[in-house]
Amino acid sequence: MPLNPSNISNKAGQWLALISLLAIGPAIVQAAAPDTTLAPTPPMGWNSWNHFADKVTDKDVRAAADALVSSGMRDAGYIYVNIDDTWEAGRNAAGEIQTNDKFPDMKALADYVHGKGLKLGIYSSPGPKTCAGYTGSYQHEEQDAKTYAAWGIDYLKYDLCSYRDIMKQKTGDDRSPEASEMMKQAYEKMHRALLATGRPIVFSLCQYGWDDVWKWGPVVGGNLWRTTGDIDDTYKRMTEIGFSQGPLAQYAGPGHWNDPDMLEVGNGGMNGDEYRLHMTLWAILAAPLLAGNDLSRMSTDTLAILENKDVIAIDQDPLGKQGEPLRVAGTAEVWSRPLAHGKAIALFNRGEQPGPVTLHLKDAGLKPGTGAHDVWNNKDVTLTANYTVTVPRHGVVLLLIH
Ligand code: GLA
Repeated sequence: MPLNPSNISNKAGQWLALISLLAIGPAIVQAAAPDTTLAPTPPMGWNSWNHFADKVTDKDVRAAADALVSSGMRDAGYIYVNIDDTWEAGRNAAGEIQTNDKFPDMKALADYVHGKGLKLGIYSSPGPKTCAGYTGSYQHEEQDAKTYAAWGIDYLKYDLCSYRDIMKQKTGDDRSPEASEMMKQAYEKMHRALLATGRPIVFSLCQYGWDDVWKWGPVVGGNLWRTTGDIDDTYKRMTEIGFSQGPLAQYAGPGHWNDPDMLEVGNGGMNGDEYRLHMTLWAILAAPLLAGNDLSRMSTDTLAILENKDVIAIDQDPLGKQGEPLRVAGTAEVWSRPLAHGKAIALFNRGEQPGPVTLHLKDAGLKPGTGAHDVWNNKDVTLTANYTVTVPRHGVVLLLIH
């Protein structure tokens, strides 16, 4: 048999399924070897929810695919076009999930997206209803996985939503240890259903970080897992999420990523400095980069942030190690991410005024005289023992050191 990525992925997946099967039960937190072939670096692309929410249509998704190509974003690495909640209708007499009027022909849409050199993602829930009240996959997991594979789906975001009600009904409390086991098994069930289709489908867990999902996400087949509740397009919420992620660094790696939620860059609720901070922090966190704006109406400033080659290279670094804080002093935070060849260091100013932020080179194990590229200011600099820069309010200076 010729060696191709889907065969490799399938084999790894079968092993993973076996290991997972053995691990299911109270001792589920045992780590399994994750399938690193599907998401060797954090997934990049676009998702409909942050901008379009329940209004998203086939037309919007095609426009997003067109824009990914014409803007150069596809070639910069943004390849997943992900439809979030509200595409679902009910089921037909055979129990097969149907699309609603906003999505007249999902297979044709997948063909269109694939024809542009992109991949298509979709959304469902282990519960009977999705978070927006549409039809979920409860008791139809194998059937839905087969439908997705037949359509040509490449990515599934699986959102807990109303499965919490089932957990509560069956165990009396949706946060009990028994409910937690039910939740893990629900994710594992869909993972096995996806594997059984033979189609490589990235599996994105969305259950808001409950029960330390980062400890068992890979065991149930997750390639990424949301670590928090929803982001919104405010500096306050974005930083609340982003700056809380340091302790999770050890759980990220090739094939299995922490997901602090989709990007809000370009949605209008933050200024340029704040969006540059957002993009930088997500790259330091090795987070999935799923743009959440209207790509067909994006400003050149927004595109420059999303498409910055150095920031994308940091996010996609093949070593796959997530960054952590080096030093926090009041509103000044210095974070560092090890890279395959060097490191990235971000000097954040979370204060309400522009002000100095200092990188103490010894914190980073660097010597005075080391050269660095100041990414957002696009200039080369030489680092001194206490390298101090003035950083805009809610802004960042990002240094790339080779
Ligand atoms: C939840 C998820 C969001 C989005 C909505 C859709 O809130 O966390 O990312 O998918 O559901 O209903």
